[in-house]
Amino acid sequence: MTQVDVLLGLQWGDEGKGKIVDVLSPQYDLIARFQGGPNAGHTLEFDGKKFVLNTIPSGIFNEKTMNLIGNGVVIDPIILKRELDNLKAAGHDPVAKGKLVIARKAHLILPSHQVLDAANEHKMGKDKIGSTLKGIGPTYMDKTGRNGLRVGDTTLPDFKDRYNKLVEKHKEILAHYDFEYDLTEKEAAFFEAIEFIKSIPHVDSEHYVNGFLKEGKTVLAEGAQGTLLDVDFGSYPFVTSSNTTTAGACTGLGIAPNKVGHVYGIFKAYCTRVGGGPFPTELDNEIGENLRQVGHEFGATTGRARRCGWIDLPALKYAIMLNGVTELIMMKADVLDGFDTIYACTHYEHNGETIDYMPYDIISVKPTPVLKAIEGWKTDVTKVNKVAEIPAKLADYIAFLEKELEVPVKYLSVGPDRVQTLELN
Ligand code: GDP
Ligand code: IMO
Ligand code: MG
Repeated sequence: MTQVDVLLGLQWGDEGKGKIVDVLSPQYDLIARFQGGPNAGHTLEFDGKKFVLNTIPSGIFNEKTMNLIGNGVVIDPIILKRELDNLKAAGHDPVAKGKLVIARKAHLILPSHQVLDAANEHKMGKDKIGSTLKGIGPTYMDKTGRNGLRVGDTTLPDFKDRYNKLVEKHKEILAHYDFEYDLTEKEAAFFEAIEFIKSIPHVDSEHYVNGFLKEGKTVLAEGAQGTLLDVDFGSYPFVTSSNTTTAGACTGLGIAPNKVGHVYGIFKAYCTRVGGGPFPTELDNEIGENLRQVGHEFGATTGRARRCGWIDLPALKYAIMLNGVTELIMMKADVLDGFDTIYACTHYEHNGETIDYMPYDIISVKPTPVLKAIEGWKTDVTKVNKVAEIPAKLADYIAFLEKELEVPVKYLSVGPDRVQTLELN
């Protein structure tokens, strides 16, 4: 029997998961998204084309790979339909090719969930989470509150009644907010999209994935967001509403922990965050702006400017521990090409102590990063396509990270395109 490999973000999201899942997809029979929803934006580039996927797994461009939207994902039918319409217009139609299935236990994002998200953020004012406003939090709240609607419910004769009942609840809550909204237009689009979604095969992801394993087929679970946005272990409350860690792959697909194989932890050669919340190594200055411009650090989903800073080793060590990472993947090394000196945070000064972990009170007391200076490689690495061509100082940086993090770096990414990827060992 095979196992499920997992690929997930070790920072605050946008590490480059989409690109690498696409690169690795020829090695897998199935790619399965396990949590999050259209708050995700996973970018893929190849043959001079660029695609951003929100709900659809990033294995969709590989001819032989099946793709599953798992039970742990929250689905906005309108966005999923739009994604598929756009893919079709670009000559890729995974539905017609029978390459996409959806878990019937995945929960649905209703238009009123989005309104609740927006009303909530509006009320919080400057203390807002900085949500993508896709309705993620309210949908997961209804899931755990046992109110939610699932993909499988769309085929029930009383689906509309169930929908109306839930929307009534939402309206009662919204009456307590000073927030204007109109659901009419969105509701029409929602029901049109629901009809479309019925044409995509619905599966029980637990049986589906375990069936692949029984047949000796290979499976890669694709995470969304990043470990530091995990609802339990991230910088709460500045987090998303799902478990973004390896454990989330078990609950989000229906696989037992002993079915997890390799865990690929993906990180940028520096660090970014979009939305509110603590970010110890943030560079709110010219250097941060430089990273943002060179790295095109603007959200794939919302277009918001991403906050930028140096790599944070205590945070990465924490993420590696939580996920049981077996191999690392370092992205966007090319963005640091022009720097004379780069820095890595090795510890924090916090409440008069030097610590090497993320403290509980990180929200109220900002830790001061202790930075180690590292000489830059000052070389354009975007065209490097052989390990032997990696500049010595970049190889030193990777060796330094491997020593600190105690996990090997298996892949190095030197540009957004599929082909700008090196396998190191
Ligand atoms: P994801 O959410 O983890 O899939 O990441 P995003 O797609 O939101 O953000 C990653 C961004 O970096 C995208 O615009 C990618 O095209 C781009 N990217 C990925 N790898 C590299 C790389 O090695 N170098 C550069 N310069 N850009 C990259
Ligand atoms: P991918 O999969 C980066 C952030 C939001 C906000 C917080 C909560 O592309 O890496 P939510 O919409 O979940 O209520 O927002 O989480 N966030 C992300 N940041 N990448 C993502 O996804 C994100 N998904 C959510 O900016 O701070
Ligand atoms: Mg993204």
